[in-house]
Amino acid sequence: MAGPVGYERVGAAAVLTIDRPERRNAVDGPTAVELGEGYRRFVADDDARVLVLTGAGELAFCAGADLKAIETFGPRLEAAEGPLGFTRLTSPKPTIAAISGWCLAGGLELALWCDLRVAAEGSTMGFPERRWGVPLIDGGTQRLPRIVGQGRALDIILSGRMVGAKEALAIGLLTELVGAGQHVSRALEIAQALAAFPQATMLADRAAALQALGLPLDEGLALEAQAGPEVFGDAVQGAGRFAAGEGRGGAGAGV
Ligand code: ACO
Repeated sequence: MAGPVGYERVGAAAVLTIDRPERRNAVDGPTAVELGEGYRRFVADDDARVLVLTGAGELAFCAGADLKAIETFGPRLEAAEGPLGFTRLTSPKPTIAAISGWCLAGGLELALWCDLRVAAEGSTMGFPERRWGVPLIDGGTQRLPRIVGQGRALDIILSGRMVGAKEALAIGLLTELVGAGQHVSRALEIAQALAAFPQATMLADRAAALQALGLPLDEGLALEAQAGPEVFGDAVQGAGRFAAGEGRGGAGAGV
């Protein structure tokens, strides 16, 4: 892709980069189309086990929809995959947002779409489109409450206030805070670690956690129980590695 979205394979990760620094990586219609293409390329690539989504430079992850080209979104408002490219889809594999600087509006919705959010210190999140009357249509109203709880989500959604990185970490909006310029390297480190785990089990546990949201507890437990037998062979092999003396004392367990 030679346009405003970069796609690069780094080890077991696919790195998707919004590259419009002159617009603080704001997304217009053509950029959204490329985001969708990049996502589909990641899904189709069996060797790409984790997606890292980021923005070029350190000033912004993404400042949301391009307010100077808002008309280019007209045809995309009801796109099945979501206006910003893939926000109405559920990735079959883990995803990490690597954030530096502004992570606003649709940009925050892209970050919320990801499983994990790693941000450089000094980053800022929020829904400033409140002041323009632009709605949240890339999953923000649904995903933010699931991540930080209804009370905190309504505060952020209704007020449009800016949320600093330290507060975002404290309320679980961010997974991890790292030093300036370290967001992509740390995301890649996490991606490599996730890619090294037995995949079938990790993907089954991830799918159960994602699909069970909104289900009554007994139905969620049934979903989880269904995956158990399917990956039991991997579990037996993993237990064998432990029994043989590998990975004792937590080595290799964390990221
Ligand atoms: N759309 C289009 N251009 C943008 C956007 C955007 N969302 N955000 C920034 N830019 C452009 C600016 O117009 C400016 O370009 P210019 O110098 O040619 O005018 C350049 O990026 C830099 O922006 P500045 O405002 O000069 O940079 P600063 O670092 O001071 O502020 C910030 C950055 C906070 C992101 C500010 O630009 C801003 O508030 N942008 C709008 C964010 C927003 O309200 N997004 C809602 C989008 S609606 C949605 O996503 C659903």
